[in-house]
Amino acid sequence: MKPLNKNTILTNLPKNRVNLTIYKEITSTNELSKNTAFKNEFNLILAEKQTAGKGRHGKNWYSPKNGNIYMSLSTKKELNYAPLSLLVGIICAQVLTKYTNKGAVRLKWPNDIVVNNKKVGGILVEKVVSDSETTTIVGIGINFLIDPQEKWWGDLSHYNVGDSRDHIISMITSKIINLFNKENEDWIDEWLKYCMHINKEVKIIKTDDSSENAIFKSIDQDGCALLETEMGIKIFNSGEISIKGVY
Ligand code: BTN
Repeated sequence: MKPLNKNTILTNLPKNRVNLTIYKEITSTNELSKNTAFKNEFNLILAEKQTAGKGRHGKNWYSPKNGNIYMSLSTKKELNYAPLSLLVGIICAQVLTKYTNKGAVRLKWPNDIVVNNKKVGGILVEKVVSDSETTTIVGIGINFLIDPQEKWWGDLSHYNVGDSRDHIISMITSKIINLFNKENEDWIDEWLKYCMHINKEVKIIKTDDSSENAIFKSIDQDGCALLETEMGIKIFNSGEISIKGVY
């Protein structure tokens, strides 16, 4: 696998707005982003390997040196869309679709990236609030090749896209930067286009571990899930429930 190449990644990015640092090995690109002073409007931190990669809900993100993507883009100005993580999910699905078959890349609510019924990527959005400003950190992990013993996870090895890793990082970054310039009105339809469980039965798991079956009907402007239960339509945010039973 070719190592990450700074020049290729920066080719189509606004170099005066983005500060890019590439590490061979660090704990977590999200964690490092929290302690990195802004030299520019955007800080992009990439690593070939993470020793303490973080997932959502306090889980670990397995991050071996396999030519995967471990990236964090932090923004000096707060990116203040409630469903930012869903918008980033759309961006990842759009970019990865260019490098795979149409329809191969799906999204599982709220923002898991799924290929061939296995999770290949995830998004962890964090905020750092200080007296003067709030920075947003968008962390993205995408598996290009996972160890055979980890095969309950998915990867993109079938699509042979390893050599495009720099371009994929660059396109994802560019599209996130563009979120600052756009209204994003049609994002719900675009998200639903990639959703793998629309109008399907899913199992809702609540924070107290209780569960209930429901039909996943849609999402709202805040990125909440609209679920049809025996008691009618219920609205949940991503902190309240996770969904299972979709693959
Ligand atoms: C999830 O649980 O689905 C989110 C996973 C996010 C992993 C990425 S890898 C790059 C960045 N740094 C981290 O420590 N986590 C995110």
